[in-house]
Amino acid sequence: MNEQPTRADKFSFGLWTVGWRAVDPFGEATRPALDPVEAVRRLAELGAYGVTFHDDDLIPFGADDTERDRQIRRFKQALADTGMVVPMATTNLFTHPVFRDGGLTSNDRSVRRYALRKVMRNMDLAAELGAETYVLWGGREGSETDAAKDVAAAMDRYREGIDTLAQYSIDQGHGLKLALEPKPNEPRGDIFLPTIGHALAFISTLHHHEMVGLNPEVGHEQMAGLNFVHGIGQALWQGKLFHIDLNGQKGPRYDQDLIFGHGDLLSAFFLVDLLENGGYEGPRHFDYKPLRTEDSDGVWASAAANMRSYLLLRERARAFRADPAVQDALAASRVPELSVPTLSPGETPADLRADTSAYEDFDPDKAAERGYGFVRLSQLAVEHALGAR
Ligand code: GCO
Ligand code: MN
Ligand code: MN
Repeated sequence: MNEQPTRADKFSFGLWTVGWRAVDPFGEATRPALDPVEAVRRLAELGAYGVTFHDDDLIPFGADDTERDRQIRRFKQALADTGMVVPMATTNLFTHPVFRDGGLTSNDRSVRRYALRKVMRNMDLAAELGAETYVLWGGREGSETDAAKDVAAAMDRYREGIDTLAQYSIDQGHGLKLALEPKPNEPRGDIFLPTIGHALAFISTLHHHEMVGLNPEVGHEQMAGLNFVHGIGQALWQGKLFHIDLNGQKGPRYDQDLIFGHGDLLSAFFLVDLLENGGYEGPRHFDYKPLRTEDSDGVWASAAANMRSYLLLRERARAFRADPAVQDALAASRVPELSVPTLSPGETPADLRADTSAYEDFDPDKAAERGYGFVRLSQLAVEHALGAR
């Protein structure tokens, strides 16, 4: 495949991804700091269309107004020079020790008020830069011990926080939609809203539920042992896939943030198939960390690798859908039949109750005889993913 990434592919990267200096709990940085302006230039050259950031990625925590204005001016100039856009922005509510017990759900009320103000300040900048989505990843919202938190009170405060920020977006005319990012653990022992399912249920309780959706991350659901493709399928079905963090993960362990496709490759194949055919129009955002072993050349190679993995999988997914053998296998597996409503148009529960063909004359033993042919279908998918067809 010789296809190169283009703006139309809507690939975006966080400043904190290519800019990760590879500090981990056991070792210091292996790479020098990366200037956000350089990140914008290099990503644009590689074919990305967008860049995203935490407030502190762009403007160092505690910078005075002069320094803040200078950094914003330089960043805007880089965007103007390259044509790169900012589709999303987010807040760092996890690095500074003040957030050691979280931001929106800290037991300390003054920390919660400070956290809201920090988010609002960066929402203003996000809107000014034309962002449509504001992500909230509650990495420090949670606990290590169940003695530490009144979970019902924490949910009340989480809801109050998100509703306050949604109201702020409305009042300021920012037009920002909010996207919650679930994660089961790390850095907290247990994080609130640990999975797509928990977050969807929480959103349904919000006053401004219509403007709050999800930013699910591949690795985070896989850390919890869950099927990411099913999670995304349900988020799309509920109209809640506002944004997505693509990366790789090898099952339940620490958050690896690998290059997209470098974890569960078959799941990545089905994910791309779903995103391309399931009505998702948003950015294809990579939230990964270049391996700690790499130097700067490796960083840019890893950024390109994310996009190339996606394009290759997209090509493979298209070939899969276009293959007559696959269409035949789908029909034999009765996959399209699942889209036919179980009741007929206008049929009532009483009508079903009176339909003897559905029960009295139905032969379950006969219906149980026929297999579904999912093995053939699955093998066709594997062969397409491997480029064997
Ligand atoms: C993670 C998270 C973070 C968030 C980001 C946005 O890997 O634990 O994905 O990278 O996405 O910080 O707030
Ligand atoms: Mn992650
Ligand atoms: Mn993420």
